[in-house]
Amino acid sequence: MIIKPRTRGFICLTSHPDGTAQNIKNQIDYVKKQGTFQGPKKVLVIGASTGFGISSRITAAFGAGAATIGVFFEKPTAPGKPGTAGWYNSAAFEKEAQAAGLYAKSINGDAFSDEVKQQTIDLIKKDLGQIDLVVYSLASPRRTHPKTGVAYSSVLKPIGQPFTNKTVDFHSGVVSDISIAPIESQEDIDNTIAVMGGEDWKFWMEDLHKAGVLAPNVQTVAYSYIGPELTFPIYRNGTIGQAKNDLEATATTIDQILSNINGKAYVSVNKALVTQSSSAIPVVPLYISLLYKVMKDKNIHEGTIEQMYRLFNERLYTTDGQVPVDEQGRIRIDDWEMRDDVQAEVSKLWNEATTENLEEISDIKGYRDDFFNLFGFNFDNIDYDAETNEVIEIPSIQ
Ligand code: NAI
Repeated sequence: MIIKPRTRGFICLTSHPDGTAQNIKNQIDYVKKQGTFQGPKKVLVIGASTGFGISSRITAAFGAGAATIGVFFEKPTAPGKPGTAGWYNSAAFEKEAQAAGLYAKSINGDAFSDEVKQQTIDLIKKDLGQIDLVVYSLASPRRTHPKTGVAYSSVLKPIGQPFTNKTVDFHSGVVSDISIAPIESQEDIDNTIAVMGGEDWKFWMEDLHKAGVLAPNVQTVAYSYIGPELTFPIYRNGTIGQAKNDLEATATTIDQILSNINGKAYVSVNKALVTQSSSAIPVVPLYISLLYKVMKDKNIHEGTIEQMYRLFNERLYTTDGQVPVDEQGRIRIDDWEMRDDVQAEVSKLWNEATTENLEEISDIKGYRDDFFNLFGFNFDNIDYDAETNEVIEIPSIQ
């Protein structure tokens, strides 16, 4: 069928199999060009199909030669019905991994459930024995609690005061003011923590440990974000920030769980990037489009693959075995984003940004390109008027 982008707000409803395959190939090529490093050998990535998760999987496989198991929740393809980007990404990844002689299998289902955890444990036991790295890269708007059956939905709201600031509709480039009402009750915070906090990461590590599938000295890493003061009310000091605080605190709990096998849990604070999740957060797309402009001008721009390669190669798997962390024990690969000179320029541009000057002072074009690239669109070498085969299987999922 012929597949064109169809968008609704910050969501793209369609994905292109050839474009997503190109996206994966570009990421693999990047890692191969950087060169191999001594890293993990058997890796589980939870949330492995898009954004930071797929880039973590690619880095582990093509940078360190690791066998990988990926867990994700994506819509499979059917005749006349294209799959989601994460489905196509994973199909392309498995194909490339197998061609390179690397073990790669995937599980498509709800990672929050006990069933998917058990299925993953069974697969590790059968094929890999034990794993030495667990990447936790889930981003979801809802979670059904596996023990109580309660369904939680997260919210993106400030706490205390309403928050008014600029935002952009990245399709039209219109800059406008947005006012977001604060939480109505503590329940908003609790629900968001239940979805995006650390409990599920802890459940995974407990279950994997109990099943004996974690190797001695295992490492696990989950991803967080801090960002600039201008997004604090909606991000770090808002409901999602409370969930990130909880996630970060969970690293210490997991350290205790893993102490008898000398395991270690890290949180990596990553850079703001265009992913399916971040485009849903008000104010953030305008910040990202200004940040891209400043970081590209300074030649320090990174996408998810550059970030993950640096995380593995220069933080988690250093040659002296030391993992550099901040005073709160977190890995910081948002270091270039948070540089004083970068933030000073973004903040100046932020005050100036209007609909009229946006194309000139920001990289809104780069934002749009990245957004459409996530779904396999806007690649120059792909003919989007041509018929393509929408039915693509993931080799390990039958
Ligand atoms: P994403 O939306 O690209 O990826 C989310 C992944 O989770 C996908 O693989 C999806 O299939 C999977 N997933 C969602 N619900 C699931 C479920 N119930 N069961 C199994 N899999 C499920 O998100 P992104 O942006 O890569 O986020 C990953 C982590 O990185 C999050 O913790 C996020 O907060 C963090 N982060 C994101 C930043 C950004 O700017 N995008 C910046 C810093 C941290």
